[in-house]
Order: sequence, then structure tokens, then C-alpha cells
Amino acid sequence: MADQDLFKKVLSHAKEYGFVFPSSEIYDGLSAVYDYGQQGVALKKNLREYWWKAMVQLNENIVGLDAAILMHPTTWKASGHVDAFNDPLIDNKDSKKRYRADVLVEDYVGKLDAKIDKEVQKAAKRFGDAFDKEQFLSTNPRVVGYKEKGDAILKRLGKSLENEDLADVKALIEELEIVCPLSGSKNWTEVKQFNLMFGTKLGASAESATELYLRPETAQGIFVNFLNVQKTGRMKLPFGIAQTGKAFRNEIVARQFIFRMREFEQMEMQFFIPPGTQKEWYAHWKETRLKWHHSLGLGADNYRFHDHEKLAHYADAACDIEFRFPFGFKELEGIHSRTDFDLGSHEKYSGKKLQYFDPERQENYVPYVLETSIGLDRLFLAVFSHALQDETLEDGSTRTVLRLPAVVAPTKVAVLPLVKKDGLPAIAKDIVNDLKWDMAVTYDEKDAVGRRYRRQDALGTPFCITVDHQTLEDQTVTLRHRDSMEQERLSIAEANSKLSKAIAFESWLK
Ligand code: GAP
Repeated sequence: MADQDLFKKVLSHAKEYGFVFPSSEIYDGLSAVYDYGQQGVALKKNLREYWWKAMVQLNENIVGLDAAILMHPTTWKASGHVDAFNDPLIDNKDSKKRYRADVLVEDYVGKLDAKIDKEVQKAAKRFGDAFDKEQFLSTNPRVVGYKEKGDAILKRLGKSLENEDLADVKALIEELEIVCPLSGSKNWTEVKQFNLMFGTKLGASAESATELYLRPETAQGIFVNFLNVQKTGRMKLPFGIAQTGKAFRNEIVARQFIFRMREFEQMEMQFFIPPGTQKEWYAHWKETRLKWHHSLGLGADNYRFHDHEKLAHYADAACDIEFRFPFGFKELEGIHSRTDFDLGSHEKYSGKKLQYFDPERQENYVPYVLETSIGLDRLFLAVFSHALQDETLEDGSTRTVLRLPAVVAPTKVAVLPLVKKDGLPAIAKDIVNDLKWDMAVTYDEKDAVGRRYRRQDALGTPFCITVDHQTLEDQTVTLRHRDSMEQERLSIAEANSKLSKAIAFESWLK
């Protein structure tokens, strides 16, 4: 499927099969806000759990937290969000559409990247087995040209944003002759800064109400609880605090489905370390997090690191793990070396010491922080869009299959009686009642079995167990594999143990 067709298919499939719905759809929806349906909520929960187990359960020195969404307003002054959580926006005077100026430039560079990809694909076809991708990327003049141009543009953009030189961002857009995707015109306004936090009020009367913000990241809930957790958990550095939860941003450019939302969920981990060790921990968490992504089996080629040119106000190093979404490589997770900025700043604003006594160094200090931060909705989109495939079978027919990793699939197995009589439904229901204590299982007896297989394929169910007349005689069933469509005859006990192994967290992550 072409990328654009795939993306359209992702949206319609997500809705048709109960994964994602537009929010308050009966009122025509709310821009960039989405609800997760009966299938989506299970996939999202499983992804959250896959992250939580890898971060908290498997690491003795990482503990969890669930801080409130509403926080004291000074939190956001200390964190820098009141003054610096801005996006540069630009309007097109003809379409009256508003864009993020940096995204317009990055999309331009994305097109150069797509050209590089095309050249690579052409050359790979031409040279076959003899093709050396690395050599091609570093020597082909056209590819080198695209790469150099893209790098130079991003460098200049990074510098202009860092220096708050918004006039130069506008100049860059004009020099690159970027047009409004809607009107096709180059009639742009000046670039302005726009704060992304949602404001709200706490209190009964308008006069006495306190101005609050809906948190734009979960991280600050971790920072303000650093001492609570460290002291009550008797934690020794290095240690981490992980949390998942909602965050809110008044995004200017809300598009690309659940990629950029106004209400979304983050999974963040702050790792507290002694000052001076940040370089090694930065390398450690880059490697660890990439390995975790690879463990989901979406293909190592679909990930890449992107080092930040423009560092946020709190960071001394930062990169993104980017994923190849249907609309190109885009940020999936951020890894940031945040120095002692956050704890130091909360110390200053709260007047409370947020320090750690290091028994080895025999001194008190404000710890440094290494952060890993991933958007759960983006992870959902990465997994879902990669999994969705239209396949032509040997007999020429087609099927839509959602090849979700079994460990996160909403339903692990569907149990199907071949026919609705002869005692087969009762056996199938017994199997369901046995399995449901250990995994998500569904029962389906409607329609011919072939149609039921297709329905489960489209829902991403990795296995089907079919109960037929032979089951009555020898207690065996067929276990059908979603991806290969192979079927094997097994005893019920063998099928259960095969399933348990295939969906075990350990089988995927170890
Ligand atoms: N605490 C650091 C932080 O919030 P960020 O790069 O702004 O860093 C981290 O966000 C991750 O949150 C991103 O990599 C992305 O996956 C996700 N994210 C950010 N804004 C989002 C949005 N509007 N919609 C969906 N996910 C978003």
C-alpha cells in the first residue's frame, strides 16, 4: 500500500474495528482529541504494561509513581513552562490556516529524506545482493547533496530557534519557497511564539479562584516527589521513578490522527544520577530504550536516532528515537539529559532543599537527571500502523490482517466451535472458561469459520482454537496462527501451553 493510502486505511480500520473514535463524535468531534474503543483500550493497556514491566518490574532501582494532573502553579514557573513552553507559529494569509513554523521546515527536510529513501530503493534493486547501503549513502552525489542540504537547513533552524530569531525562521521558510499545503500560496505572516499550556481555575468564585494549568508533561510530578520517594523508599543513587499518565498541550498543528493530540498519555522515567555521570547514563538509556523498541519486532530498519540541534532549556544532550510512521520518520520517544535544572529550579522556587547525601562521595548535592519519555498514543500508532496489512493469498483472494505483536494484542485467542450444534459450543465455552484466567480470550460462533478467521485477523488476534467433531473423540483442537494461517492439531493442554509461551512477556523481552 502507498503510504498515504495506508494512513487512510489506518484511520478507517481503527474506527471500524473499535480501536479509536473521534471524541464526542455525535457533536462532530473535537479537534485532535480521541477516544479509545473496546479494542483500542486493551491494546493501549497492554502497551502501557509492556513499558511498565520493562522499566519498573525488571529494574530493582526503578519505582513507580502516580502524581496528580493538577499541580501547584509555581511548578510551571520553576519548570520553565510558563516562560519557554512555546511553539513558533505562522499563519497563511490566504487559507487563514495556522502552522508550526518549525514543522513546515522539518516537513521540507522530510521530503529530502524521502528522496534519499527512493534513491536507496532504486539502487538496491539495481545492484541486488552486491548493494552496500552504507557506501551508497556516503558516496552517491545526489544522496550526499540531499543529506547536506537537509542537515544545513536543520542546523540553521535549530540556531534561529535557540536564539529566538523568529525573523530568520520566516526568512528560511521564504528562501525554501515553502507553500501552504492548503492554498499553495507563499503569503505568510510573521512568526510568533504561542504558549501550549491549557489554563484552568481552582476555587468556587471567580475572584478567589487560583489559576492552574493542566500538566503539559508528567515529569514535573516526579521531580516534586523526588525527596518523598527517595526517603520513604530508602533509594540510593542511581535510581529512577517511572510514571504513566495524561498530559495536555494546546497544539497549534493538530493533525495526523493520534500522532499529535491535545490530550495524550506519556510514559516517563526520570533517572537520578550523580553529577558527572550523565554521559554514560545517556548512552545507557539510548541503547536500552532502542532495544526495548526492537523487542516488539516491528523491524530495526524502522527506527533511527535523531540528535537535537536545538536543546530545550533544561538539557545538555537530547535525542529522539524516531519511527517510520506512514507519513515518514517522526519522533516516538525522547531521551534527555536534563542536568540538575529541574531539581535545582524547584529548590529555588519552593525554598526546600532537594538534595541527596551521597555516602560514597560524603557530600550533599542536587542529583542530575536522565529522562526517557514516550507518548503512549504515538506508540499505539506505530504498532497499529505497522501491523495493518492487506495481503493477497495464494488463491488470489485478499485478507486484511493486523499483525499486532502477540504480547500486546487485545485478544490473545478466539475459541470457535466449527458448528453451532453437536455439543461443540459447550466444549468451546469450557475452553474459554479455562483460558480466561490467564489471558484475554473471546468466543465466536457466528458465520462460517473462514469468515470468523478473517474477523479475528482484522482485530489482530494472533491465535484461533477451533473445536470440531474430532474434538469429541480425542480432545484435540486445531490451533490456527494468524500470520502464517497454518493450523496444527494439538491436545487442548498442548494448545494452552503453546499459547502461554507465545504471549509471555518474557518470550518477547528477554
Ligand atoms: N518530559 C519531556 C517531554 O515531555 P516531549 O518531547 O515534549 O518531552 C515526550 O514529549 C513524548 O511525548 C514525545 O516523544 C511524544 O511521543 C509524546 N508527545 C508529545 N506531545 C504529544 C502530543 N501532542 N500528542 C501525542 N504525543 C505527544
